[in-house]
Amino acid sequence: MSRQPARVAVLAGDGIGPEVTAEAINVLNAVGDRFGHQFVFSSGLIGGCAIDETGAALPSETITVCSESDAVLLGAVGGPKWDNPTAAVRPEQGLLGIRKALGLFANLRPVKLVPALLEASTLKPEVLAGVDLLVVRELTGGIYFGPRQEASADDPTAFDTMLYTQPEIERVTRLAAEAARGRSSRLASVDKANVLASSRLWRRVVTEVVAKEFPDVQLEHVLVDAMAMHLIRRPSAYDVVLAGNLFGDILTDEASMLAGSMGLLPSASLGNALNSYGHPRGLYEPIHGSAPDIAGQGIANPLAAILSAAMLLRHSLGLEDEAQVVERAVESVLADGLRTRDIAWGARRIVGTAEMGNAVVQRIMQ
Ligand code: IPM
Ligand code: MG
Repeated sequence: MSRQPARVAVLAGDGIGPEVTAEAINVLNAVGDRFGHQFVFSSGLIGGCAIDETGAALPSETITVCSESDAVLLGAVGGPKWDNPTAAVRPEQGLLGIRKALGLFANLRPVKLVPALLEASTLKPEVLAGVDLLVVRELTGGIYFGPRQEASADDPTAFDTMLYTQPEIERVTRLAAEAARGRSSRLASVDKANVLASSRLWRRVVTEVVAKEFPDVQLEHVLVDAMAMHLIRRPSAYDVVLAGNLFGDILTDEASMLAGSMGLLPSASLGNALNSYGHPRGLYEPIHGSAPDIAGQGIANPLAAILSAAMLLRHSLGLEDEAQVVERAVESVLADGLRTRDIAWGARRIVGTAEMGNAVVQRIMQ
């Protein structure tokens, strides 16, 4: 990258968000030092901390900072302080809002078994052998964004609407099928077409797009309840899994257990907007939440945030080799027995957030 510095917007957020993103930034700087790239970081408020300071979960300055960046690194949002379900402003609105504002319609959540962590999973090793999934979750549609009504004193009825349009399904299908092509060319699309109208449209559109544009991709449809079962029965049977917003949210928490811990899984949210390098201006975040119970103690697992930084290098900056160096560094610290408390099973050494981050940095610099 003998090019201009990469501009990264950092939205650290709440709870353990700031602690884990600090380690991801250290890792990016280490990659910069080793490979001669430059990163310029700017920060923005999101979630509970934004509500405290500005009254809004997603201040407009934050959207501006993100739109002017090549990529966004996000920590986590939310916490008990802002948990009142009747509050008009909630931290999660910040997260949903930034995804929508940046047009990030596809969320990539890779789930790969780390052999060193086989014992950290609650599942049997023979079930986990060979797990290597990529879940593509639709991120800006479905029941998260459809028309809704909150219950009120006058009308104690509430509803949310699972609404999908054909173009929304087409674009995320293309992205998932493209990803499948780069892997084993197998794609499993998840829906509830035996009950939901939006799922019947989903199934029809996915079928048409794949048949017309990706005839080489092997497509199967799986009902979401069956997929919940298959994921713990024979997870290695799947490669790329495509799901709507809500189904993808639920299935990826389940799938995180295949990798050993939520603390390990990164994600990339992508759309059509390109950055100054001609790559997607993505948003990168761990799939875990703000973990308020352990926030501020320096014990959170920074690896999901660090692996999110690796995805940032890959997808938004086109730095595949650098991304792999980070991923190998993470594998290497785990193989050496370093563990944060969430993956402490069989640990040779339990370390804190900063120590884990430093260990990854050290291996990058080797
Ligand atoms: C996720 C989270 C979010 C979601 C919440 C915090 C709004 O669970 O990224 O998976 O449901 O999308
Ligand atoms: Mg979730």
